[in-house]
Amino acid sequence: MEVDGVQAVASICKKVDIIPSEFIRSENEQPAITTLHGVVLEVPVIDLSDSDEAKLVELVAESSKNWGIFQVVNHGIPDESISKLIEVGKEFFELPREEKEVIAKTPESGIEGYGTSLEKEIDGKKGWVDHLFHRVWPPSAINFKYWPKNPPSYREANEKYAEKLREVSDKLFKYLSLGIGLEGHEMKAAAGGDDLIYMMKINYYPPCPRPDLALGVAAHTDMSTLTILVPNEVQGLQVFRDDNWYDVKYIPNALIIHIGDQIEIMSNGKYKAVFHRTTVNKEKTRMSWPVFLEPPAEHEVGPISKLVNEENPSKYKTKKFKDYFYCKLNKLPQ
Ligand code: OGA
Ligand code: NI
Repeated sequence: MEVDGVQAVASICKKVDIIPSEFIRSENEQPAITTLHGVVLEVPVIDLSDSDEAKLVELVAESSKNWGIFQVVNHGIPDESISKLIEVGKEFFELPREEKEVIAKTPESGIEGYGTSLEKEIDGKKGWVDHLFHRVWPPSAINFKYWPKNPPSYREANEKYAEKLREVSDKLFKYLSLGIGLEGHEMKAAAGGDDLIYMMKINYYPPCPRPDLALGVAAHTDMSTLTILVPNEVQGLQVFRDDNWYDVKYIPNALIIHIGDQIEIMSNGKYKAVFHRTTVNKEKTRMSWPVFLEPPAEHEVGPISKLVNEENPSKYKTKKFKDYFYCKLNKLPQ
């Protein structure tokens, strides 16, 4: 059972303007020192409604090779569906702590449920963030026990969003396949096909009296194939590029697409997982809704055989996703 969420710590710290030492980052991580200020990074923005498919393939492939991150607009998910997702998630996090703890993570629940920090950070530091994880697709992978019952429209909003998100995800997998000379279906098939798991996470970053010293989520790459993220309007996502950390521009109703470790592996390094982190805000609560598209636990992921030959030897091990996951969470070599 988790004790104090960061939300509870935040409400105490607000009064005194200091934060506990476990939230204070070392100097090489502190956002005030390590961010290139005054520049908002314009990661590629791709209009998915473009009828020229060859052009979309080119844009998605180029962005995934050179950036590992891009935003998509006119993606087909109605704005109302996104605002509803945001609204119900916010309502859940604003419930009293006891109500949220009804679906708290337990040792048996694995990753699903409401809680704080997931990964063990080497130096024992903590992120200024609480979260909720639950699967949203496929139906056989869903356990409604970890979905909030309150607000009552939580389930419908998440189901509707997930349904629309599948269309976006299928498109992206197709473009990523075509972009490196594979047939349209191959990348998704290598990731688990229709058994691909959609893991919803909500990040809740309460206001922080010392946003110069703390981080929300520390620097990482996602272990997913792709991550499709909706942020609220509060700035916070940063990307590492040319040896600096930059803020990523917020575009209302856009989806932020991260290339995760599994796509990097499947493409044998042609596509790059993006190194990213989040900062927090002094006055405002930031929230975000990443959906991690994950291979099933027992599914083996490795470089796609067509991409491996004498000139391009395999750069990554082939292993079950659950084994990759275990090593990454526990900071063990892959
Ligand atoms: C994550 C993450 C980014 C964000 O949860 O893995 O990188 O914008 N979140 O909250
Ligand atoms: Ni991430």
